[in-house]
Amino acid sequence: MAPVPESESQFSSEVYPPSEAMRARAHLPSMEAYRALYDRSVREPEAFWEEQALTQLDWFHPFSKVREYDFEWGQVQWFLNGRLNACHNCVDRHASQRGTQTALIWESDTPGEGRSVDYRELQREVCRLANVLRHHGIRKGDRVAIYMPMILEAVYAMLACARIGAVHNVVFAGFSAESLRDRINDARCKAVITADEGIRGGKIIPLKRTVDEAVMACPTVKFVFVAQRTGNKIPFYPQRDVWLRPAMDAERPFCPIEHVDAEDTLFLLYTSGSTGKPKGVAHTTAGYLLHAALSHRYVFDYQPGDVYACVADIGWITGHSYVVYGPLCNGATTVLFESVPTFPDAGRYWEMVERLGITQFYTSPTAIRAVAREGDEFVKRHDRSSLRILGSVGEPINPEAWKWYHTQVGEGRCPVVDTWWQTETGGIMISPMPGATPLKPGSATFPFFGVEPVVLDEQGREIEGNGVTGLLAIRNPWPGMARTIQNDHQRFVETYLRPFMGYYITGDGCRRDEDGYYWITGRVDDVINVSGHRMGTAEVESALVTHPGCAEAAVVGFPHDIKGQGIFAYVILNAGWEEGQELIGELKNEVRHHIGPFATPDLILIAPGLPKTRSGKIMRRILRKIASEDYGELGDITTLADPTVVEALIEKRKSIR
Ligand code: WTA
Repeated sequence: MAPVPESESQFSSEVYPPSEAMRARAHLPSMEAYRALYDRSVREPEAFWEEQALTQLDWFHPFSKVREYDFEWGQVQWFLNGRLNACHNCVDRHASQRGTQTALIWESDTPGEGRSVDYRELQREVCRLANVLRHHGIRKGDRVAIYMPMILEAVYAMLACARIGAVHNVVFAGFSAESLRDRINDARCKAVITADEGIRGGKIIPLKRTVDEAVMACPTVKFVFVAQRTGNKIPFYPQRDVWLRPAMDAERPFCPIEHVDAEDTLFLLYTSGSTGKPKGVAHTTAGYLLHAALSHRYVFDYQPGDVYACVADIGWITGHSYVVYGPLCNGATTVLFESVPTFPDAGRYWEMVERLGITQFYTSPTAIRAVAREGDEFVKRHDRSSLRILGSVGEPINPEAWKWYHTQVGEGRCPVVDTWWQTETGGIMISPMPGATPLKPGSATFPFFGVEPVVLDEQGREIEGNGVTGLLAIRNPWPGMARTIQNDHQRFVETYLRPFMGYYITGDGCRRDEDGYYWITGRVDDVINVSGHRMGTAEVESALVTHPGCAEAAVVGFPHDIKGQGIFAYVILNAGWEEGQELIGELKNEVRHHIGPFATPDLILIAPGLPKTRSGKIMRRILRKIASEDYGELGDITTLADPTVVEALIEKRKSIR
């Protein structure tokens, strides 16, 4: 099956071919060029990846075998016996070759107050921080939690861990103390690196206070390192807490580098699944780094001299792969964005693009929709002529948002790369190549090198040909794929590899259209995607039922104009509790407290009952339809224990918004 269309005449819907100007300078100037490399990457994966590993990465000791894998037991290894260091690849080798080139541009919450560091300074700062960790007993293999705002020290901290072979566990700084505590304990972190406070959109976020609350119940944590962002007074416990700046200043600016194994863990990153508690996805060093770097180079057509900006937070995988590891491994200049898209106004992104001369800009559909609704004048006010490529990630992008991004922001000049991937995939899996791929608004188009997507039916059989819909799965391993789940390899195997033997199961549905283009249709499991933040409905439900008034909760996603999906909660009250605004507020607070503000339900419906089968299983399909105000085809409800509940829920749904 050829996943790539043979001729442009085959395209059905609207197609935007790459411009001549784009082709003229791109790494991949045509579909033929893409197809040639792609075909080689899947036909001769070992030769292809060996070549890439040797040209893209520096090795201290060469690998003896490209890959070894067994999907049945979830044993995947790349570049066996090779030794390298991610920090060396992202920092040291550039410090010696292009030391005065800007590595990081810190874009402060207040426009214009940021600063830049070159590769030499980056190296010195990372080494100082690595020495601080070493002198507090952190060794290779130890886990370190990072709970930081988007400041330079956050990147130094990640790279310092990598330098000494410690495993970082970045927790998004919007998570509650309870979520932070669970992630620290599950990973048995020895230390936490945080800041006094964060500041986003002018609002102060009390990070140290949250860490204090969390680590009260974290027996493994010996030290809390505190960077200063606001300088406001915060609680400080001298026997445990260490001010980062003076500690770094007391260290020398060089630090020995660990030669780690290609398969040593580089980091853990917790993400939500459809059931139970979040899972600590483990990524190893060589394969992950290579995937991040190679995809950054090709998907964003990175060229020396570019000023590349991914505005994701380092608390998510996009920040790991496309703010830090991918661009730095390529020796790029990468922006660290501390603020929000609408601060001080909806023109923030474009003002920054103009001021910094940004060439590639990568954000989420939610952010695009949020600024688009404020009007085109916020875009037009700023010069965007430096932009060459626009990127989108995290959720399906609707064609309206895509077109606005392409036309208004990119003046029709800049290809939009809609990149599909996941925390578990490590890097981009399906995406256009800017100089090659004719774009279709809303389609992630074609696979990245080495990635073999397949469409499966519900029995796990491959659906061949084009114009088909089903479950998106990946055949064969790729270098950046996650290797395990912390403390639970069984769950890793069962979630991703066992549902259908021989495939990695993504949890997303997709359509492969007549031209072989992939269109991601969203999750097929109980994971929802709110503003590009991935969440398990089960997590929100557990938070709700901790409220004494809540007997039972069922959470589903529903379409939301800005956020893509909103959170809709059905709540059954315990006897003696009265429905009312105050109670709704308390329930929402429960979720903010247990998970974090970004998980707050948009709508809560106090339900008289839930649609359950006679065996007690909640029929979520019905709940999703009612939440979406789609009352037409509810399907067969005769199998419900009490079919009248459906009518009652519809009545209630009509009364809330
Ligand atoms: C969704 C984020 C459609 C998808 C990198 C996936 C997308 C989940 C896209 C992973 C896209 C991500 N089009 N859907 N371009 N990118 N998704 O782990 O449902 O936070 O499974 O990784 O986001 O979310 P995660």
